[in-house]
Amino acid sequence: MTTSALVDLYDPDTYLAGPPHEAFAALRRASPVHWQEVPTGPAAPGYWAVLGYAEVEHVLCAPELFSSEEGGVVLDDLPPDRLAQMRGMLLAMDPPRHRDYRRPLAHRFTHRAVAMLEGRVRDASRVIMREAAERGRSGGEVEFVSEVAGQLPTRVVGELMGLPREDWDYVHRLAEALNRGQDAGDADRAGVEGGEGDKGGMDGVGPSRGGPGGSEPGGGGAEGAAAPTVEMAMYAAGFAARRRAQPPRDDLTGLLLAGDFGGRTMSDLDYGSFFVQLVTAGNDTTQTMLSSGLLALLTHPDQLAGLRADPSLAPGAVEEILRWANPLHYFRRTAAADAGVGGVRMRAGDRLATYFTAANRDETVFEDPDRFDIRRSPNRHLSFGKGEHFCLGAHLARLEGRVFLEELLSSFAKIELAGTPTRVRSNLNNGLKSLPVRLTPA
Ligand code: HEM
Repeated sequence: MTTSALVDLYDPDTYLAGPPHEAFAALRRASPVHWQEVPTGPAAPGYWAVLGYAEVEHVLCAPELFSSEEGGVVLDDLPPDRLAQMRGMLLAMDPPRHRDYRRPLAHRFTHRAVAMLEGRVRDASRVIMREAAERGRSGGEVEFVSEVAGQLPTRVVGELMGLPREDWDYVHRLAEALNRGQDAGDADRAGVEGGEGDKGGMDGVGPSRGGPGGSEPGGGGAEGAAAPTVEMAMYAAGFAARRRAQPPRDDLTGLLLAGDFGGRTMSDLDYGSFFVQLVTAGNDTTQTMLSSGLLALLTHPDQLAGLRADPSLAPGAVEEILRWANPLHYFRRTAAADAGVGGVRMRAGDRLATYFTAANRDETVFEDPDRFDIRRSPNRHLSFGKGEHFCLGAHLARLEGRVFLEELLSSFAKIELAGTPTRVRSNLNNGLKSLPVRLTPA
């Protein structure tokens, strides 16, 4: 079964007007797995698009057979140095090495451990709402994606890692530069991460300017400045070196610097690369959840009214936002041996893409799957993945989603669209590039 007649799932333009849900549904009904041809370029000759819920689960829960390490987690094959860099991230490690690295971290990200951060996430959200109200007062309109939603994840990572507050803005600007890096050469279109050369939030190649402590990222001038990824890793390595000279503290940095990762301790550079990993995995995805979540509520006023009337619905609203507007379309695996999925035979070395966007609307699992319903229960969406690589930050993202929504709705009596939202042009990132809104304080 090939997808070509109906839709090209690799082409980023396919997603510009929103995910092709009708095509996904038609394909899924015909067969849970399809071949997507990619005639030329870094994803040639193509890949298996896994669309059924059970089949996506099956692939994600068999990491020995479907490798994250062999070809990385994005569809395009990477040059050897970039693949080697990616393999330093949890996301692109296979067991048993993956377990050695994940085990020492897991207890920092449990529901209980993360719940302790609620007060700090709420404080950060309140500051963001106050700043948004200020901006709204002077100009009337606010660009919600970067000016509001994008502010929370870096502040939370700053708290989690124990970064000095005066560095938070710098790290935020680096994170933005890192995401903009994927936009290269496409500045005037409707959002650009992805497409041919889609690096899927795993890369940041644009130049930046400045340094920590209040100035711009990049060491003074775009020409020859370090890529944001490298600059962020170097900043974090320097921070690790300073922390080693201080008495141990009970934050994630303290844990990482003292931890045992498969018989090894972390060097400052390992710490730097882990830091980049948290920022790349947690930033864009959380920003997307918060901004796509608001748009979903604004376009479903009955649901928004229900949530305003009963704020205890917020956790369910976050789950439905994650299901209905999942921030990532897919992650890649590479078959380590010949295998069968959904009745389709594949060969060792074949690429697969597990489409969360399609699995989350599988009608054999979700009743009336296209309906956005904040009261949906159960809601076993796959937006955080499943099995071996299940999102380490899932509890944190859920906490951020709930607290942010609560603070947003209690801060503003009225929230209205003030223009047409634009979408990121990507076959991987299912997000908004801009969301102009008018905010009326409560
Ligand atoms: C709404 C927000 C988020 C979404 C939708 C999301 C989604 C995902 C998904 C689908 C995976 C699985 C990757 C795979 O199977 O290959 C994953 C892994 C991961 N996520 Fe998240 N994520 C979010 C937020 C975060 C946050 C806030 C953090 C940390 C601060 C984080 C850290 C990670 C890490 C470290 C991994 C790799 C885990 C491993 O390989 O064992 N994520 N995420």
